[in-house]
Amino acid sequence: MITLTSSPLAESDQLFLDKIIAGQSGHPGSLLGILEKAQDHEPRKFLSREVLEYISAKTETPQARIYSVVTFYALFNLEPQGKNTICICRGTACHTRGSRDLLESLMFKLGFHNPDEEPADKISLNTSDGKYTIRTVACFGQCALAPVVEVNHEVYGHMNEQTLQRELEHLGRETAKK
Ligand code: FES
Repeated sequence: MITLTSSPLAESDQLFLDKIIAGQSGHPGSLLGILEKAQDHEPRKFLSREVLEYISAKTETPQARIYSVVTFYALFNLEPQGKNTICICRGTACHTRGSRDLLESLMFKLGFHNPDEEPADKISLNTSDGKYTIRTVACFGQCALAPVVEVNHEVYGHMNEQTLQRELEHLGRETAKK
């Protein structure tokens, strides 16, 4: 593999990307697979402009197409994510069972308080200390468990204020140890 000398990426990162691009080549949906692995490789779970430019050059895919993919799929992040991600479902079943109150309370606890502003249905917020990301999704496909909250990729059903607060305290303790 030949690294791109004009790329600002470290050579080790270029080699990693070259490897996953070679591994996916010819697979249907290979661009998605490449982007997913590239994001997973980044400790803060996001795709930087430099990484996207590199993938575009190496796969000969126009940057516009790459950006349309990463902005379409909610799983991709264009900004560094917090050490912990809490994702609240805002689908109808979860909404009717109180997900909006959970979201508002979580936002307040993590320092996002603007009482005049309604929480948007599709949000991605990072705390300034880099410890937490709050996100929302349209539906986890687990409506019978509403309201559903995902904490660091683990799904919790029938969440309420108390259990969410306990999770938050647990995350706070675990994050402090690291
Ligand atoms: S609406 Fe929340 S899991 Fe479906």
